[in-house]
Amino acid sequence: KDRYVVIGNPVTHSKSPAIHAAFAAQTGQQMDYQRLLAPLDGFAASVRAFRAQGGLGANVTVPFKLEACALATRLTPRAAAAGAVNTLQFSDTQILGDNTDGIGLVTDIVQNAGVALRGKRILLLGAGGAARGAVLPMLEQQPAMLVIANRTVSKAQELQQLASADAAAQAVRTVVTACRFEEIPGHFDVIINATSASLQDAVPMLPAGVMDGRTLAYDMMYGAQPTAFLRFAAQHGAQCRDGLGMLVEQAAEAFALWRGVRPDTAGVLQQLRAGLQ
Ligand code: ATR
Repeated sequence: KDRYVVIGNPVTHSKSPAIHAAFAAQTGQQMDYQRLLAPLDGFAASVRAFRAQGGLGANVTVPFKLEACALATRLTPRAAAAGAVNTLQFSDTQILGDNTDGIGLVTDIVQNAGVALRGKRILLLGAGGAARGAVLPMLEQQPAMLVIANRTVSKAQELQQLASADAAAQAVRTVVTACRFEEIPGHFDVIINATSASLQDAVPMLPAGVMDGRTLAYDMMYGAQPTAFLRFAAQHGAQCRDGLGMLVEQAAEAFALWRGVRPDTAGVLQQLRAGLQ
């Protein structure tokens, strides 16, 4: 069987093996997908060893996405824009690095939630790796405006500069700005929480009026219970969605890259949802 892994540290709780097993069963692909725990100082060596054993590809998770980007000998444009890699594909001559997180987010919003981004006002909360990975795939949808807000405003400004350059390179006319949470201007159609505040059960302090019943509030995090951000959004009447669909869609994109077939994600997402308790 063709071999794939998800490499991380920790990696025990990764749902990727279950997701890829479901995709493989559904599409009749003969593949084996396991977890690979790499030592914190041993990512490249773990990849090398897995490749030497005939491994064909890997998903990369915390904390190795930047190292994976450095290890790749060729990057897709969206991986280069993200500065991070979550998907590796090995061949005899190269290591291709891709980043499917952002397109996973966009697919979950546009196709699964049925919310178009074209012409919309989007607010991105956070300016770390998760936020950066989402920028190029979102710009490709040609929103009217992308506001990047972050606790540390200098990081939002840095990301805004990268995003503006991406928009110019794509000839996309989206207006990209950066600010602090308390300076966020006006009302938004879509608000994406790419901060890790939910891990501390915290919510970025947002001004009144940024969201209402017309807003889709999306948290990249997920869990059995709604995150603090989604509880806050629900109180303001927003439509709420967590990141479980993004997880499944990023996996589907990696699977399509490796196997050349696109799996159907709806049933897998339903199964995962039922399994969160
Ligand atoms: P990731 O790869 O998940 O994006 P990261 O690069 O460490 O992780 O980025 C974490 C993001 O969450 C940052 O935008 C961070 O804000 P700062 O740049 O100001 O540190 C944000 N964040 C983390 N905890 C937060 C909190 N309690 N409130 C608001 N923002 C928070």
